Amino acid sequence: MQKLELAQNKLMQYNQEEILSVLNSLDGKEKEELIEQILKIDFEEITKLYENLKTKEQSQKCEIQPIDYIDKDKLSAGEKEELKKIGLNIIKQNKYAVVTMAGGQGTRLGWDGPKGTYKLANGKFIFQILAEKFIQFKDQYGTYPYWYIMTSEQNNVQTVDFFKSNNYFGLDKEKIKFFKQDKLPVLTPEGKMVIEDNKIKTASNGNGAVYAGLIKEKMIDDMRLKNIEWLYISGVDNIMVKFIDPIFLGLTVKNNMQIASKSVAKAYPEEKVGVFCKKNGKPGIVEYIELTEEMRNDKNAEGNLIYGDANIVSHLLNVDIIEKITSQKMQYHLEVKKGLYKFESFVFDGFKAMDNMLVMRVKREEEFAPIKNSEGVDSPATALEIYENSKK
Ligand code: UD1
Repeated sequence: MQKLELAQNKLMQYNQEEILSVLNSLDGKEKEELIEQILKIDFEEITKLYENLKTKEQSQKCEIQPIDYIDKDKLSAGEKEELKKIGLNIIKQNKYAVVTMAGGQGTRLGWDGPKGTYKLANGKFIFQILAEKFIQFKDQYGTYPYWYIMTSEQNNVQTVDFFKSNNYFGLDKEKIKFFKQDKLPVLTPEGKMVIEDNKIKTASNGNGAVYAGLIKEKMIDDMRLKNIEWLYISGVDNIMVKFIDPIFLGLTVKNNMQIASKSVAKAYPEEKVGVFCKKNGKPGIVEYIELTEEMRNDKNAEGNLIYGDANIVSHLLNVDIIEKITSQKMQYHLEVKKGLYKFESFVFDGFKAMDNMLVMRVKREEEFAPIKNSEGVDSPATALEIYENSKK
């Protein structure tokens, strides 16, 4: 069967008549490109995601319980020293890599380019501040971890060019690798795909795409060749992120865990942060958009929030469990943006592949300065203040 016919059949089978009429109206290169795109899209998957919304599979009953954490502050100097030794030993052997998820768009920030290319008032770009963390480690120990950066279809070229034109901020370009995350079509509330510039409109499918991305783009193969065993997976927008952290790594190894994550004490019930918990007995996080009133506000006898450990997107994973995570079905969450339905998976939903994880609570002022909004809370100004204070 001709490609055109295959594409037409697919559109008819999944009731995307409007796309079909656009396809039929095009010719030449534009038509060919749309055909290729249609053949690549998993219509079955997207249709199921849409159908599940109606059956409310998303909000299926889930038993939530609090999860324990270790307070870094309560570790003794001796313990810290011992853990640091364990972690450093692994990092110095280059068995540790940093993964930065930079596939999201800085829409809330009002910045048109990739978020990491945003320039702060101190004259530094976000990516530059992250790069300096590798340089600092190198100055101290003579080596530094490999850096894997996840981009998206939308911002890959810009991100790669940005690093090139800034000379990789003094890092060895061989130690930095870029990989692209997947995307999914967006839908109208009626379940129809949308055409933009003669293509089906798509969007990044959430930071949970990191696992499939690492495998599909052969990053895991690359890591195995380099004998990398541990990945610190974090977001691009926290300029205080401490992604080379021997104590955290040492603590994880010593506790025989394969997943660990850092938290900070949640500042106030309405703070826009996911919180750590157990879901149906498995470790996980409930995202702020899905928190119930109770989970947001419930306090224990001491007056502390029961779900008071905020996710700062600082996850440590053993490479060996990435395949295990991708072998299970990723859950998708609905986000309505500008009247369109967007499906996103979350990186922490992968944690349910394990029976347990380690949560290490750290000090907010030492490791959390997120840049989300252009003004007010979690803005470049507030983040920079925390950053500058830490240098004093
Ligand atoms: C995120 C966390 C939230 C946490 C908060 C702390 C998730 C799903 N949510 O919320 O629990 O408390 O940060 O600041 O992790 N990204 C991609 N590809 C995508 C979407 C996002 O790479 O398709 C990246 C972003 O570039 C960013 C990170 O993932 O670095 C976080 O994503 P974002 O959508 O900004 O999450 P928040 O809503 O801020």
